[in-house]
Amino acid sequence: MAKTQVTVGLVCAALACASAETDDGSDVVRFGFGREPSAAEIAALDIDVMPDGTGLPAGSGTVRRGMALYKAQCASCHGATGREGPYGRLVGRVPNDEFPFGKDRTVRSTIGNYWPYATTLYDYVLRTMPFGNPGTLEADEVYSLVAALLYMNDIIAEDALMNAETLPAVVMPARDRFVVDDRKGGLEVR
Ligand code: HEC
Repeated sequence: MAKTQVTVGLVCAALACASAETDDGSDVVRFGFGREPSAAEIAALDIDVMPDGTGLPAGSGTVRRGMALYKAQCASCHGATGREGPYGRLVGRVPNDEFPFGKDRTVRSTIGNYWPYATTLYDYVLRTMPFGNPGTLEADEVYSLVAALLYMNDIIAEDALMNAETLPAVVMPARDRFVVDDRKGGLEVR
């Protein structure tokens, strides 16, 4: 707590604030500027999708539409089939879905051989891609791109429809290759 107070004091000195004392004795410090964000502003930023699918929006997507979007907006960086690059390789399975990353550093991770959840692929694509223009894809487009990427990795069928119900039900090949981090904060196990 002392450290927080010192930091607040320094920030305030820099900004020449009148006072950085808490109004109500809580840890919330008010600097006398800004305003409460509106519900719409919060909703626009509240886009995270959890591994269990919490946060997935309404809408749906098809492999067919996703393939067209991929060709137009993704292939220039990830390659025509998702394997060629020049940037991140997205497609490819390891024979028998083995997980050789700990012993063979030449194996490149992809969606098909490494990602434990299909849902977080939605989160990642919506948040970050296309690389130079993130935030421009509509929900149906992201569902379609995710469908195409899963299809290209031989995980779903060509006629599969992806939406908030079907996407969390997709079992990824690397699903059981990760464990929940059960450390307490250091090396100690909970
Ligand atoms: C201008 C180049 C560019 C374009 C266009 C682009 N990407 Fe990417 N993509 C990248 C780069 C670079 C990374 C690696 C980012 C990093 O590691 O921080 C990446 C990473 C990814 C990953 C994560 C791969 C992994 O396993 O870590 C996914 C998924 C992805 N892109 C999907 C897409 C999709 C879908 C599109 C089209 C909507 C797209 N990208 C368009 C450059 C691009």
